[in-house]
Order: sequence, then structure tokens, then C-alpha cells
Amino acid sequence: MSTTILEARHLSKRFSMGERTIRVLNDVSLQIRAGEILVISGPSGAGKSTLLHLLGLLDRPTVGDVFLNGEDVSQLSGRRQARLRNEHIGFIFQFYHLLPELNALENVFLPRMIQSGPLRWWRKKKQIREQAQEMLVRVGLGDRMTHRPSQLSGGERQRVAVARALINEPRIALCDEPTGNLDRENSQAIQELLWDLNTSFGQTFVIVTHDEALTRSGHRNLHMVDGQIVEESVQTGASEGTGGDEE
Ligand SMILES: Nc1ncnc2c1ncn2[C@@H]1O[C@H](COP(=O)(O)OP(=O)(O)OP(=O)(O)O)[C@@H](O)[C@H]1O
Ligand SMILES: [Mg+2]
Repeated sequence: MSTTILEARHLSKRFSMGERTIRVLNDVSLQIRAGEILVISGPSGAGKSTLLHLLGLLDRPTVGDVFLNGEDVSQLSGRRQARLRNEHIGFIFQFYHLLPELNALENVFLPRMIQSGPLRWWRKKKQIREQAQEMLVRVGLGDRMTHRPSQLSGGERQRVAVARALINEPRIALCDEPTGNLDRENSQAIQELLWDLNTSFGQTFVIVTHDEALTRSGHRNLHMVDGQIVEESVQTGASEGTGGDEE
């Protein structure tokens, strides 16, 4: 049995809107294991992004706890949470969130630069640049390193975002609709890339998605409705499947 990296225990999230309280997550518990691809699907408004934000320490639960590498991290200060995020968690979002004034290479080494701090950055600059270059080659963008986001296609931008998410070698990568803004061909290419990174490097992924091709192809698939996990399915012996045989 592989180790649990990230765990949610009895998470609930409520938002107050004036007089009204909106219950968005309702007692959600789950464990994410090293090396798995966990896909979370569900209708719009089910609470998928909210859950991902809580797992990624981008927001705090109203009730419940999040454990990272066995440690309860939900009550830590914002500063300590930010540090843990930078070191252990990579994020990939639907709209890439790249910095427009930086080129692909600079976007990728930014998290590494933040992690290093100014002094180590100066000492290790060359090495870190090389690591970022390596990451870009790995995602198939060896010939696009000096392009700015506006000079890249959607699929290429998402590849930069994947490289940036993984540069600090996070234990876990959290993806919110990673193919949501891409056409079918690019969606498939991003899916193949994520699955390939999982197979080659054991990278753990949690993927929130509407994409039909993705919803059935995780090692484990969870379905959410109304702030709760209502169904879980496990793929048997399908660690390499990219769901590409439909049609
Ligand atoms: N900051 C907030 N304040 C109030 N309500 C919120 C807030 N964030 C989310 N919600 C509400 O919580 C519900 C769940 O939102 P969430 O973004 O988690 O859904 P989702 O499952 O990711 O949907 P989608 O598939 O459309 O992205 C929605 O009804 C949304 O309006
Ligand atoms: Mg969402």
C-alpha cells in the first residue's frame, strides 16, 4: 500500500453572503496516495474547485483538517502554509496564470527562485536555469524557451504551466480543469503529458475536470454532487490508459 501524501478529514466549507450561509462542502474526507492520478468530476457548482483550494492550502476549511505528509497543516499561519505550498504542491489552472511579461523559461524558474531566496538564487542561478530548461524540454517546449505567453498557443501555455508546477519537484500536483480551455487535440496532448509524467517520474496528480475523456481515466475517480463525494471508482490495472480509444 503506498503512502498517503495529502489527506482531507471531514472538510466542510461555508461562505457567508450577508444574511445567507452557503454550504459548499459537506463533510468531505479523502486520501491521496503517492503515485496516483486521482480525477474528481461533478457538475458545475458541486464544490470541486473549493475542495482543491482547501487541499492546496489556498483557502481554509470552516470545519475539518488537511494533513500534508501526515502533519495537520490546516491551522498553520498563512506564511508557513505559503512555504509548504511552494515546496510541496504544484498548481495547474485552466487559464494557465502565466506572467505575461516573463518568457517561458522565466515563468518556469520563478517558483524555484522564490524557494531559494535572493542569496542562494545568485549562487545557484545557472543550475536553476538549467533545471528549468530541462523541464521545458521534458514538456516538449525545448524550442520555445524565450517565447512570451502571448507568443505561445493555448496548449503550449499549458505545457509551460505544467513545467512551472513541477520545477520544485512537488510531492503533489493539483490541477483545476487543466484542459478546460483547450481544443480536443491539445486536451489530449496535455492529458498524455500528465499521464506520461506520472508513469515516468511517479508524479502524483489530483485533477478536477469536466472533460469526459479525463473523468474515466484516472487510477481512481471520484464524483462530487452538492458538496459531497457520492461515488468512487478504481481503475484496475490501467495505469497507462489515456482513454484514447473512444470514437
Ligand atoms: N468565495 C465564495 N463565496 C460564496 N460562494 C462561493 C465562493 N466560492 C464558491 N462559491 C460557491 O460554491 C459553489 C461551489 O463552487 P466551486 O467553484 O467549488 O464549484 P465547481 O464544482 O468547481 O464548479 P465548476 O465546475 O463550475 O468550476 C458554487 O455554488 C459557488 O457559487
Ligand atoms: Mg471549478
